[in-house]
Amino acid sequence: MRVEALRKEFGSTVAVQDISFTVDSPQMIGIIGRSGAGKSTLLRMINHLTPATSGRVMVDGRDILTLKGRARRDWQRDCAMIFQQFNLVPRLDVLTNVMLGRLNRHSTAASLLKMFGADDIARALHALERLGIVDQALKRAEDLSGGQQQRVAIARALTQEPRMVLADEPIASLDPMSAQVVMDALRQIHERDGLTVICNLHTLDTARTYCDRVIGMRAGEMVFDGPAEALTPEMAREIYGAEQAFDESLTSTSLPGAVPAPEATAPQPAPALQAVRVGT
Ligand SMILES: Nc1ncnc2c1ncn2[C@@H]1O[C@H](COP(=O)(O)OP(=O)(O)O)[C@@H](O)[C@H]1O
Ligand SMILES: [Mg+2]
Repeated sequence: MRVEALRKEFGSTVAVQDISFTVDSPQMIGIIGRSGAGKSTLLRMINHLTPATSGRVMVDGRDILTLKGRARRDWQRDCAMIFQQFNLVPRLDVLTNVMLGRLNRHSTAASLLKMFGADDIARALHALERLGIVDQALKRAEDLSGGQQQRVAIARALTQEPRMVLADEPIASLDPMSAQVVMDALRQIHERDGLTVICNLHTLDTARTYCDRVIGMRAGEMVFDGPAEALTPEMAREIYGAEQAFDESLTSTSLPGAVPAPEATAPQPAPALQAVRVGT
């Protein structure tokens, strides 16, 4: 995927200012920046939820921003989106919520009649099993904890069989323990399924722990693009704003007493468990 000079203006506000970057091979990318930096707008343009003012998003030689109708929906299925507020159907059971990820693989009539096949059910159960919540399959989504609901959303994304996963602040509403479980799941999708995962995060340490590549945004501009190790305190200050006395602990979601992030190059073996052990 090649993002080329992607720009979004809301009236006189330039939310995203001519951002370009290329993803050649599957990566786990963290987009960081303060609230209002343009992170959500960038992801929403890539997913085609928000039209861009200008620029292109090239995938397999076509600009996906020009796609319409069925082709556009196919693209939205290809890049599954995960949201801060989970976006589940609260009164539906977990299994049905996950199977909704199969929806645009079927005709609308079949979808309306909820004609999910045995294959859809098997896929949904498998995804729930992978995320460790298959025992919740028949509960209403609204009866689950936030962390469990976000795992349902990830399971739904997986049943879409996406080529890429876009996550907009997936852990911003979660407690630190649930946050780690959710980030572990996203990391595993990157490593095991070989998918690119692009994750908006407002906390630096999460990006350092989980992402190979970090893109830093400030007031709509990309001010950093590189490996997590290259993100110096000076760079972080640049991203989060020099006018603020920068204290990394303020942007941290770590449990008290958690170990510092290991080198970002090594695969992360269940950081949740490490942190639990240290924290208790
Ligand atoms: N629908 C909208 N209408 C008008 N302005 C918007 C809209 N969405 C976002 N913005 C503005 O665009 C800028 C970037 O917002 P956003 O992408 O939500 O940032 P972030 O996700 O980094 O917090 C902000 O100034 C925000 O107020
Ligand atoms: Mg946002």
